[in-house]
Amino acid sequence: MYQTSVICMLIFAHRGASGVEPENTLRAIQAALDANVDGIEIDIHQVDDKLFVIHDRWLHRTTSGKGQIVQHSYEHLRSLDAGDGEVIPTLDEVLSLVAGKCTINLELKNITNINLLFKYIDEALIATKLEVKDIVLSSFNHRLLYLIHQKMPQYLLGALTASYPLEYAKFAEQLNAFSVNLDINFISENFVKDAHQRGLKVFVYTVDEIEDINAMKAIGVDGIYSNFPSRALSHIAHLNKFS
Ligand code: G3P
Ligand code: MG
Repeated sequence: MYQTSVICMLIFAHRGASGVEPENTLRAIQAALDANVDGIEIDIHQVDDKLFVIHDRWLHRTTSGKGQIVQHSYEHLRSLDAGDGEVIPTLDEVLSLVAGKCTINLELKNITNINLLFKYIDEALIATKLEVKDIVLSSFNHRLLYLIHQKMPQYLLGALTASYPLEYAKFAEQLNAFSVNLDINFISENFVKDAHQRGLKVFVYTVDEIEDINAMKAIGVDGIYSNFPSRALSHIAHLNKFS
């Protein structure tokens, strides 16, 4: 996993630099790379034997299309406008762009065939500078993470939750995760302490406001997902300068 020497809280671009470019597009990802982020998070949906980089199951919020993504052919999906003339990227396109530059966090939304996921990843490992250590596979689907760990234990897993679990980060430890990825609405110092005692990193989404960034740093969070990664990086650099 990439880590800069000065900044101790990692900054992940959430859906690329989605606050300044259309989310989950190559433009948003390039903007994140230009900002020198530590990592980039994207969302993945499977449609037939292809993996698309898009957040919603439905097309209307982020593209010129209508209906559910799984109802459409590859050709139709690729003909849509995903914002400012961008197409919906496929996973291989994103891996080629990001390989060797920063950590890539693949948030697995609708994946029914994990062999297909590893086909994409394996091809990128061969054809690009991508390395296993620079990939984090995260999901709210804990059964999927469990299956991935059974099959491919070498991959770093991020156990997502938008809740405040009874036994804090225990569920992530049970999944053999690398990190527990929590909604900012549910984070607490006690949760961070518990996760760290279990050997887990704590990543929090979505953190855009300066006050929230300060609060995450104060309770020892290891990384944040931001729609405005450039702003977050500048703020952390500023804090480090005066600490
Ligand atoms: O991976 C962090 C975050 O992206 C999870 O929620 O809905 O933005 O994909 P969502
Ligand atoms: Mg996501």
